Amino acid sequence: MNLKKICIYYFSGTGNTELVSQLFCTEFAKHAVQAKMIAVEDVLKGKSSISIKNYDIIGFGHPVHAFGAPKIYLEFIKSLPPADNTPSFYFRTSGDPLCNGGATSMVRKILQRKKYNVFHESLLVMPSNVVVQYEDELVKQLFNAAKRKISKIVKEVLRKESHLQKNSLILRIISYLFNKAETLGAKYFGRYLYVTESCDQCNLCIRKCPTGNIYEDSESRKIKFEKKCTFCLRCVYICPNNSIKNKYMNLFIIKNGYNIRKVIENPGVRGIYVTEATKGYFKHFYKYLYNVE
Ligand SMILES: Cc1cc2nc3c(=O)[nH]c(=O)nc-3n(C[C@H](O)[C@H](O)[C@H](O)COP(=O)(O)O)c2cc1C
Repeated sequence: MNLKKICIYYFSGTGNTELVSQLFCTEFAKHAVQAKMIAVEDVLKGKSSISIKNYDIIGFGHPVHAFGAPKIYLEFIKSLPPADNTPSFYFRTSGDPLCNGGATSMVRKILQRKKYNVFHESLLVMPSNVVVQYEDELVKQLFNAAKRKISKIVKEVLRKESHLQKNSLILRIISYLFNKAETLGAKYFGRYLYVTESCDQCNLCIRKCPTGNIYEDSESRKIKFEKKCTFCLRCVYICPNNSIKNKYMNLFIIKNGYNIRKVIENPGVRGIYVTEATKGYFKHFYKYLYNVE
């Protein structure tokens, strides 16, 4: 078998999709297949170029935002050059298995229009980085499940097995409407961000913002925000002093912050949370975690 070269174009606001992309690369390597990752913001900022022809398979991955794709990801795929029936797989990370199915039909449609042959789609449920904080045990359980699932997905991708998720009309409509609202909401979320007195002007937020939405005002020397936000929450969670707040929309921000790596690297967390006996909200995670049909 010829060695296959794979490139994964991903966006990750707070690390989940980046971790998942890394798991894909590790798993491909076990099959002697070289896979590399490119962050879409680097492409959009001109730091990386797109070279589809150099790869046998292309991967596309992003977090689910309001049943759809973040604005920055849609912008990226719209800017892609046309392909030549290039085999492609597409994955999303979400905070809940509820949006399983083809809720991001928009992305597939654009890719197909550009002649990317999307033959495999998957959803990897990761911890939520918005509104609610998951217990550490659930964070690790989801990460471990993602590892198991990716091992299977990689085999399917290398065998070019077709796995497309169902796109019911109702899901397509929900995805479209929520996504439109989220794109508008992102603009205002960004606009209403501000820094508190605890900001020590380290400028980390400016350097890390994927859309260049943050700048230092030349007169006041204060950190300011524009309307180019993609609602990824990265700036809020990476701020070492927890100085970034929102005037009206703080309910979206997890109070204690979000850092998945800290949890999965903690050996004290075993990763057992949802079981067959689980009742209440997380009951439906059981089906996702253990592939119960
Ligand atoms: C603005 C926003 C909207 C979101 N909408 C959804 C959603 O509709 N459904 C869902 O299951 N998770 C939703 N999430 C959670 C993320 O999809 C999930 O935590 C994802 O793994 C984050 O990936 P990242 O760390 O790579 O950014 C949302 C997160 C954000 C920030």
